[in-house]
Amino acid sequence: GNRTLTMIKPNAVANNHIGGIIAMIEAGGFKVVAMKKMKLSPELAGKFYEVHKERPFYDELCEFMSSGPIIPMILEKENAVADYRELIGSTDPAEAAEGTIRKKYAKSKGENAVHGSDSDENAALESAFFFSETERF
Ligand code: GTP
Ligand code: MG
Repeated sequence: GNRTLTMIKPNAVANNHIGGIIAMIEAGGFKVVAMKKMKLSPELAGKFYEVHKERPFYDELCEFMSSGPIIPMILEKENAVADYRELIGSTDPAEAAEGTIRKKYAKSKGENAVHGSDSDENAALESAFFFSETERF
């Protein structure tokens, strides 16, 4: 697949890292094909992260993701899902490689600056979650 879905998470938006993160995304060879700023309700955050509902951090995650505005974006590049996960680095910033977005901008395993889809199938589902057909042309 050639598309993935990312969100700039509330901590990164609140700390004025929107521009820095988009600069790293574009320098990494990705094209921003859709983008908006919005605030998730706890219910919508819960729906987005439904696959994690049995995990111990689920409530904390939904609370954090609805704590402030986020920037969802659809990104385009050959091999987008895998290449983007490489660009963002490990979930835990302590384990993220030098030069990755999370190494630079994540505060903790929870407040880790960005999301990246984990499969082509989820990239398509997550893109449809945030963007209407007229926005993801
Ligand atoms: P995403 O790109 O956001 O999906 O991250 P990921 O695929 O690297 O991690 P995963 O799908 O396993 O977890 C989803 C999100 O839950 C992570 O990005 C974190 O924000 C959060 N998360 C994961 N593990 C923990 C944890 O141990 N504590 C807390 N508070 N949050 C966690
Ligand atoms: Mg994930």
